[in-house]
Amino acid sequence: MDFFDAVARRYSIRAFEDKEFERDKIDQILETINRAPSAGDLQTYQVYLVRSRNLREALARAALGQLFIAAAPMLLVFCAVPTRSSIKIGQRGEALYALQDATIASAYAQLAAAALGLGSAWVGAFDEDAVKEALGISADEVPVAIILIGYPAESPSLAPRRDLADLVREA
Ligand SMILES: Cc1cc2nc3c(=O)[nH]c(=O)nc-3n(C[C@H](O)[C@H](O)[C@H](O)COP(=O)(O)O)c2cc1C
Repeated sequence: MDFFDAVARRYSIRAFEDKEFERDKIDQILETINRAPSAGDLQTYQVYLVRSRNLREALARAALGQLFIAAAPMLLVFCAVPTRSSIKIGQRGEALYALQDATIASAYAQLAAAALGLGSAWVGAFDEDAVKEALGISADEVPVAIILIGYPAESPSLAPRRDLADLVREA
């Protein structure tokens, strides 16, 4: 699929078919994540691949009761690891780049899913401690995004965007 088609097909899906998808699609998504740029090429994040129903339900509860999360066959939980950045880059790496690295990788995952004909949604509203507890995440990791991926069971209308004339200022 053309890159721009994948971008156009990336919109939030919050209802999923009750079927898993092929292992090679998972691998392609993971390979795509691994190609994402990161500050100093440090890749200061950890990705948790979640498929068990129990864990999906625990994460749905951690995400303030957004129960549709549990219906996605696969979740990718992106956690920033600021200490990985602070060692080499210092304060700016710790405070900013680690978050940006994890965020960019999350966006790559959504685009890869779209290119593979899968639906996805980004969930950012969650209780960090509850997510950490559910996944047994160590203290130095900061959950940044839960990305839901699966075959879509809905066709939502496109969310509106700002006019480019408002969004972009020529400097
Ligand atoms: C940082 C961030 C946090 C988000 N958190 C949530 C969330 O907690 N729950 C949810 O249903 N959608 C969440 N979304 C998805 C947005 O609501 C969605 O991307 C936006 O409305 C635009 O719609 P689209 O994705 O269909 O283009 C989040 C998106 C981002 C980038």
